[in-house]
Amino acid sequence: MDIGRNLPLLGVIDKKIVGVATLHQRLGGWKRHIGRVSVLVHPKFRGRGLATTLIKEILDIARGAGLERVEATFIAEQEAAMKMFAMFGFNELVRLEDYVKDMTAITHDYVLMGLDLRTDEEYASAAG
Ligand SMILES: CC(C)(COP(=O)(O)OP(=O)(O)OC[C@H]1O[C@@H](n2cnc3c(N)ncnc32)[C@H](O)[C@@H]1OP(=O)(O)O)[C@@H](O)C(=O)NCCC(=O)NCCS
Repeated sequence: MDIGRNLPLLGVIDKKIVGVATLHQRLGGWKRHIGRVSVLVHPKFRGRGLATTLIKEILDIARGAGLERVEATFIAEQEAAMKMFAMFGFNELVRLEDYVKDMTAITHDYVLMGLDLRTDEEYASAAG
């Protein structure tokens, strides 16, 4: 596992992994300043704030790693997840109709959301 590229943060209960948030980074190229965040929580452990906690931590790590932006990708039906990312300040950047296909070959709209991490830092330095 190359944690420089994919850093998984695990939620563990009773020695079982119940959730994971991952910070994906490109180590070169024109998106090297942009991280990607993905998150998955076991259905039985949803609605307890686990994803919120993991994402908050992953965003702190992304800032600490010097990333300027983070993005997250969704299919349009993942409305609850998009709402949750919006609570962290993510905005919808792109929506492409019928752009991706699931395992059963059904097409879905693709949504790219993004967060500018530099804004927070500017506020922080303005606040002293
Ligand atoms: C999206 C997901 C990660 C949320 O995990 P979670 O641990 O249940 O989330 P939290 O408990 O931290 O809830 C975060 C917020 O989203 C809301 N929320 C979470 N799941 C929801 C659902 N299915 N329906 C409505 N609201 C939901 C919560 O109410 C909470 O809002 P609140 O703080 O105002 O109450 C989880 O449902 C999941 O794994 N989904 C499948 C994978 C996915 O969609 N990943 C996102 C793409 S990267």
